[in-house]
Amino acid sequence: MTGRVLSVASECVPFVKTGGLADVVGALPEALAGVGWEMRVLIPAYRALRGLCAGMTAVWEEPGLFGGHGTVYAGQVEGMEVLLLDAPHLYDRDGGPYGGPGGDWGDNPQRFAALSWVAARIAREGVAGWRPDVLHAHDWQAGFAPAYLAYSGARDVKSVMTVHNIAFQGWAPVHLLHDLRLPGEQFYPDGLEYYGGLSSLKAGLVTADWITTVSPTYAAELMRAEFGMGLQGVIAARAARVSGILNGVDTGIWAPESEPVPFSAAHPAGKATARAALCAEFGIDVPGPLAIVVSRLTDQKGIDLLPQVVPDFVAAGGGLIVLGSGDPGLEGAMRALAEAHPARVAVRIGYDEALSHRLFSGADAVLVPSRFEPCGLTQMYGLRYGALPVVAATGGLADTVIGVSPATLTAGVATGVVFHPTDALAFGQALTKLLQVYSQPQQWARLRANAMAHPVGWETSAAAYADLYARLRA
Ligand code: ADP
Ligand code: GLC
Repeated sequence: MTGRVLSVASECVPFVKTGGLADVVGALPEALAGVGWEMRVLIPAYRALRGLCAGMTAVWEEPGLFGGHGTVYAGQVEGMEVLLLDAPHLYDRDGGPYGGPGGDWGDNPQRFAALSWVAARIAREGVAGWRPDVLHAHDWQAGFAPAYLAYSGARDVKSVMTVHNIAFQGWAPVHLLHDLRLPGEQFYPDGLEYYGGLSSLKAGLVTADWITTVSPTYAAELMRAEFGMGLQGVIAARAARVSGILNGVDTGIWAPESEPVPFSAAHPAGKATARAALCAEFGIDVPGPLAIVVSRLTDQKGIDLLPQVVPDFVAAGGGLIVLGSGDPGLEGAMRALAEAHPARVAVRIGYDEALSHRLFSGADAVLVPSRFEPCGLTQMYGLRYGALPVVAATGGLADTVIGVSPATLTAGVATGVVFHPTDALAFGQALTKLLQVYSQPQQWARLRANAMAHPVGWETSAAAYADLYARLRA
């Protein structure tokens, strides 16, 4: 192995997932092993994961870890080298990783500061004879890790802070400074201070040796006020140490040739079978293109635009199946849309991994009308499954989909429909384009073949991370 990396995050497939962060953290170890870097992943032992600790080895402990006993268990689980931080006073609760029915946990600053603290300690001192060359922190939950490392004075372990979504910044009131084991003298505008309080993400951004985000376009967008959400200046000030590395897709998990009804670019017949089964499952009848949405239902994702554009789309023969959960208002709006168009639109509120595979298998198109999208994974699943992505031209969506236009058609490179700005007018026009392409079977087949041939695996990006780690270590 060329080197070692400790990856620290709050989510990791197959253990705990609320969004794409988990997919990426879970896919990186295997992707990096392919280019000679050994990555271990440190995550909290949430209630559902505590059972795993029994089969692992205790390698580190601290009796007074932010108010209780903390133990790190190490071992190989599901083929991955994992470090689980078991600290029952912080993580052994009912609910999701960030909150329960009553909202976010009030002690989230302590919960994730503890995770970050342990990451920095392991980076500095190693555990069970294993010490990383690089500490790789993901999002606000791990933001204090590079900070603790930097403040400890350790210079031989390098740190990378990856922004998966700047909308979540890990804000905490300043009176927690000492509880969070942060040095008071670092509380100044170019240090830990953030609008009078603390932000774990900002802490990571100002202290890490390198900043990455999950697409080149988002890296540039983050330095602008419309996207930086208050942190644009912090990132712009470090522009020489910021890069965008596109996420990949785990092509072992997202593999049309291994679906229950298999298909591929060379043998597309299975896709028609999957489509028919999907329409039957949802009781819809769609003469035109069948579109899907698989998404958290939040403002970020532009879901509120659907009720404005879908009526015309279904009137022209299109159909839509939505799978998602989130904002109660948007859930209601999706239900209302299905009720208004029962023969063409269906909605499933909830989280369902198996259904998401059936949806990509059967769909003709996947809609991703995001207002901002650091990378986005579902447009890449769409490419791989020949469900043409219809995406807003932002972040990773802009970097992964080649929109249909006279020029891209002539060049034979289009893989989907790209629109700008993210509003109902442009989105509606994009759906009209989709309908036009669908009505020309040869053009449609060409686009679908292009989409399915577009590389969405981790190879290129794993090499980019390996290159970054190697440069930092040198
Ligand atoms: P984000 O991380 O912002 O939610 P991404 O596109 O990066 O967006 O990743 C979302 C991930 O979550 C994808 O793997 C997607 O398939 C999955 N996902 C989102 N909502 C659902 C759902 N309701 N059911 C199943 N999978 C979902
Ligand atoms: C975030 C972003 C999404 C990205 C994912 C993984 O949740 O919203 O665009 O794909 O992280 O990096």
